Amino acid sequence: MDMNAKTDASKKEAPDKTQPKVETPPPKKVRGVAIPQPPRGKDILPIEERYWKLVRDKADSIARAYGYEPIETPLLEETSLFIRAVGKQTDVVEKQMFSFLDQGEDNLTLRPEGTAPVARAYVNHGMLNLPQPVKFFYLGSMFRHERPQSGRYRQFHQFGCEILGDMKPVIDAELVILGVRYFSDLGIDVDVQINSIGDANDRARYKEKLVAHYRSHRASLCEDCKARLSKNPLRVLDCKEEGCRKVRASAPQIVDFLSEDNKNHFMKVLEFLDEADVNYSMDPYLVRGLDYYTHTVFEFVPRGAKEEDGAPQALGGGGRYDALVETLGGRPTPAAGFAIGLERAILQLKEKNVVVPEPPKPTVYMAQLGEPAKRKAFGVFEELRRAGVPVAATFTKDSLKSQMEIANRLGVKYTILLGQKEILDGTIIIRDMDAGIQEIVDVKKVAIEIKKKLEHTKLLPEQA
Ligand code: HAM
Repeated sequence: MDMNAKTDASKKEAPDKTQPKVETPPPKKVRGVAIPQPPRGKDILPIEERYWKLVRDKADSIARAYGYEPIETPLLEETSLFIRAVGKQTDVVEKQMFSFLDQGEDNLTLRPEGTAPVARAYVNHGMLNLPQPVKFFYLGSMFRHERPQSGRYRQFHQFGCEILGDMKPVIDAELVILGVRYFSDLGIDVDVQINSIGDANDRARYKEKLVAHYRSHRASLCEDCKARLSKNPLRVLDCKEEGCRKVRASAPQIVDFLSEDNKNHFMKVLEFLDEADVNYSMDPYLVRGLDYYTHTVFEFVPRGAKEEDGAPQALGGGGRYDALVETLGGRPTPAAGFAIGLERAILQLKEKNVVVPEPPKPTVYMAQLGEPAKRKAFGVFEELRRAGVPVAATFTKDSLKSQMEIANRLGVKYTILLGQKEILDGTIIIRDMDAGIQEIVDVKKVAIEIKKKLEHTKLLPEQA
């Protein structure tokens, strides 16, 4: 890959794209045949479904309740979008992007985050002309080339909310509150860490003092931070190395460099949070790892979390990005947002043993015996599904015994049986599995009869 083909994305040595990098251990072999493994990925299996359904459903409902509309942007974007938006000297752009040249020589990147694509879409579709602000939410995959570990994956999922076109502090507060409410709806307690990094002028004055402080402790810094001091000094505050963290403990704080207006903005955000009883703590060194942020920045951390590399793993984070739309060629548009990592939210649900409801199971099983009965049962099965009856069947099984075993395993309330005799009589058997009682009904009335029974036992889904 030549990252410099269209952009000067990286001065790193370009890996040879003709030779895919093998990062997985040698493939497992079964009977001499290699079984494909996902490249440091993570399969989401049906057994996990109830967690995924919960975190997605809650995200969808809370975002809509606060007036956000869904937006979907492509997984692939031009690499230059992230370089301009996230910043060339950030870990995300320098180390974590999956970028490649496609057959048309376009330099593309699997999106590492959702804010830059949303801001791009805002500019592309002339959304400045809509009534402002516009409010979006998204749920989707992001990709970062990081060292996989618990809560950190190469493909992960975010729930994000973005508001574009309003600069009032109440917007920042609304986003924090929405994030906190999302977690509390899930049964997860979070603390909010918050800071303001002001505007470009504030940061220019701050950076001068910050660099002077770090230079006076140069010997204790890691090699990356030594380089960051001249390239992108704010990033030294994100460093997890012990020596750098010690230097940070006595570093100047950006809040002391905010202009009166910017300080006021931040105070107002905090007042709204107080009003809404949100538990927050000020973190004077929180700057977040993406360059587009301005003013308020915040993170959601699990209450009582263990520190990982000296800091708790954040469940989500966000802030204002008032200059981003303009950076991408749009008119100046204030904006703010956050994103939450769904894998990390699910890890919390599991760690805290939050009770997650099982997805609804079938309550009726359709069994058949003999070829003509199988054909007829196939039609009845479709009729029941159309009528909204949660019914299961195994048409690949011929033996009644094995079908009844499946019905028992599923724990259904009723089994509907169709055999040779029932075909001739135009009837069907409904068996109450708990009571062991059987009833013979007219096959034409089976849907009505079974629905009546399910309604009686409150086992019929509401939409049916
Ligand atoms: P971020 O802090 O880079 O912010 O990511 C937000 C969240 O995504 C993290 O707090 C974490 O839960 C999750 N996350 C990030 N990387 C990984 C990973 N490798 N594996 C698993 N989860 C991960 C953003 O992405 C910004 N776009 C947020 C934002 C929206 N700011 C304004 N609007």
